[in-house]
Amino acid sequence: MDSPLAGHIGFITMYQLIYCSRFTGTGGALSTVREILAQSQQNNFQNTITGFLIFDKTHFVQVLEGEEQVVQDTYARLLGDSRHADIVPIAARAVEKRDFPEWSMGGFLRNPEVQHIFARHGMDDGIDPVTLTAGKVVALAKDLLAYDLSRDRERIINIATR
Ligand SMILES: Cc1cc2nc3c(=O)[nH]c(=O)nc-3n(C[C@H](O)[C@H](O)[C@H](O)COP(=O)(O)O)c2cc1C
Repeated sequence: MDSPLAGHIGFITMYQLIYCSRFTGTGGALSTVREILAQSQQNNFQNTITGFLIFDKTHFVQVLEGEEQVVQDTYARLLGDSRHADIVPIAARAVEKRDFPEWSMGGFLRNPEVQHIFARHGMDDGIDPVTLTAGKVVALAKDLLAYDLSRDRERIINIATR
């Protein structure tokens, strides 16, 4: 007898990749991150990738999550992007579920208003590639999101886009 799951594609393992890189672009911080987010959101939506990008004007840290091969393909593409260099993988792991299921790529630019949130996560001086861990990155991104969503949309100067 057929299993009740016959014809079902089955369980797809969710894969999460986190890396840090150094900004090497020539544009302004805000316009750079806006441009990256626009590209990312369009591609990631098509690829069912979700995640979060944090930029402190010197370093990027990004969470990419989705089907493993699709995440790897996206990572391979962005490794060659001239807007950043010194890419350091922080984690590449199977996860039970997405941490940012509603964000094709959420984004946050560090500014004085959210400095206290970075400080709470031991990042007073910004993103330090040496001391980053996957847990720290995800916790910081979730805190930034919670802060952003708790505020009046009119006053949002950070870019957190769906
Ligand atoms: C820090 C950083 C993060 C990026 N994140 C993504 C991403 O999540 N998804 C994506 O498709 N492209 C991302 N990009 C852009 C890619 O490197 C590449 O420019 C883009 O995917 C090309 O898209 P296109 O072929 O549609 O022009 C990122 C680039 C940088 C510098």
